[in-house]
Amino acid sequence: MHQNDIQLKYPDVRLDDLPQHVAIIMDGNGRWAKKQGKPRVFGHKNGVKSVRAVSECAAELGIKYLTLYAFSTENWRRPKYEVNMLMSLLVQTIHQEVTTLNKNNIRLQAIGNLDGLPEKTRKALLEGIEKTKDNTRMTLILALNYSARWELTQAVQNISRDTLEGTLTPDAINDAVFENYLSTKGIPDPEILIRTSGEHRISNFLLWQIAYTELFFLPIFWPEFGANHFIQVIKEFQNRERRYGMTSEQLKK
Ligand code: FPP
Repeated sequence: MHQNDIQLKYPDVRLDDLPQHVAIIMDGNGRWAKKQGKPRVFGHKNGVKSVRAVSECAAELGIKYLTLYAFSTENWRRPKYEVNMLMSLLVQTIHQEVTTLNKNNIRLQAIGNLDGLPEKTRKALLEGIEKTKDNTRMTLILALNYSARWELTQAVQNISRDTLEGTLTPDAINDAVFENYLSTKGIPDPEILIRTSGEHRISNFLLWQIAYTELFFLPIFWPEFGANHFIQVIKEFQNRERRYGMTSEQLKK
């Protein structure tokens, strides 16, 4: 779509003032299903529709990075049946969506302990990443077997190794150096974090990266989330003032 047409489609969004990176904790699939007397799996399947809607909308607007919390390291504690189903849903979705991702010029990426995923899931994921690697409009990052404490301890381990080897000195470690040891290396911090389902928690997601992020907690379940809600959040974000520790007056100078 042409820039003019995008502006016509989203008249109240300032296209020159968009976030570069939006992160989402997709919560409430199970409760949404239960509400209508259906198995939790039904909620996850419908959750994929929301993933599609929000990815398309974000790419259309010109947002560069969209990170989705798809499976946390804590999610292994769920019933085995549900874990298996989520893993095969991922394989199926990646296979199904690769063509659409390429058509929309979207690159797939993943963060998390990918070595800990079932072989089939890891393979599908790596294939999806490989087949979309040259796309440039937006990067869709799936957080899989991810937790922020895992990411931070990994970073500290690798920093310690480099320090022992002598390729890094303790005094050289600063924010920018530390970031190079995270799985989000090279990706700007998210300006927006959305969590659905009415829970007001971060649940071990991107703890380092959200230091200055605007948080949005929506009282709807993930399968109910659509492009309209995404646009609402972007509009509210554009009306919030981000001060980074400064005063309002300083910002206006
Ligand atoms: C949270 O709902 C959802 C998840 C843990 C899984 C999210 C996965 C998908 C939307 C499908 C994955 C597909 C792709 C391609 C990313 P919940 O089960 O925690 O719901 P509840 O809190 O109501 O129990």
